[in-house]
Amino acid sequence: RRYRKTVIAGNWKMNMTATETKKFAEELKKIMPRAKWCDTLICVPACNIQTAAKAFKDLRISVGAENVYFEEKGAYTGEISADMLKDLGVKYVIVGHSERRQYFCETDTTVNKKVHAVLNAGMNPIICVGESLEQRETGITDEWIALQVKSALYGVPADKLRRCIIAYEPIWAIGTGKTATAEQAGEVCTNIRATIRSLYGARVARSVTIQYGGSMNPKNAAELLAQPDIDGGLIGGAALKPDQFVDIINAAN
Ligand code: G3P
Repeated sequence: RRYRKTVIAGNWKMNMTATETKKFAEELKKIMPRAKWCDTLICVPACNIQTAAKAFKDLRISVGAENVYFEEKGAYTGEISADMLKDLGVKYVIVGHSERRQYFCETDTTVNKKVHAVLNAGMNPIICVGESLEQRETGITDEWIALQVKSALYGVPADKLRRCIIAYEPIWAIGTGKTATAEQAGEVCTNIRATIRSLYGARVARSVTIQYGGSMNPKNAAELLAQPDIDGGLIGGAALKPDQFVDIINAAN
């Protein structure tokens, strides 16, 4: 563990208005632990990044984005570039969340382009990978995840890999209340590190933070985080509730 950071991240998805964001920060201020041994961040909808950055400043919570477009600038109506996010103080950007792959035509190719865009702008991508229930039941989880990891990291040099976080989110565990058992999740995360090792060698592989995501909550967080290759969490539902989010931060402490 001493080789890499523990990172607890919230993913608010399409929840929380700017007003609710401020209220959340006020609530959090009352219960946030003074010392944190993990890095903490919340990824918010793009329109609320500035509000969140201001509201979370005293809490030492970084603000992340939930998506980015891979082109630098130009005629892409409605899209947001990496430089625009960076300019707002964003440090982390979620790339390739399964919801974006499912509903917004995100592919391994666009995910890879976005990873490069985020790294080139000097930010840290949180790269999501995960298998469907059908894939798990057919026994192809390991191959599938290895493919997603390799595609996402294609062309990424070793010195930039340290800034990448991989989030393992089994699709069947997202928002379902169904968590992967700590062993199941731990095993896939160990395999992800093995894939990175095969590409970049052991020294780089042990420096990469690998998160688990999928119905992580105050009850299961400690057990999941105790797995040797799980270095943090990407939290959806429980990150919308200040007390639950703090409980998970405490579990990582
Ligand atoms: O990115 C986090 C996420 O997909 C997990 O969501 O609600 O199952 O914690 P949730």
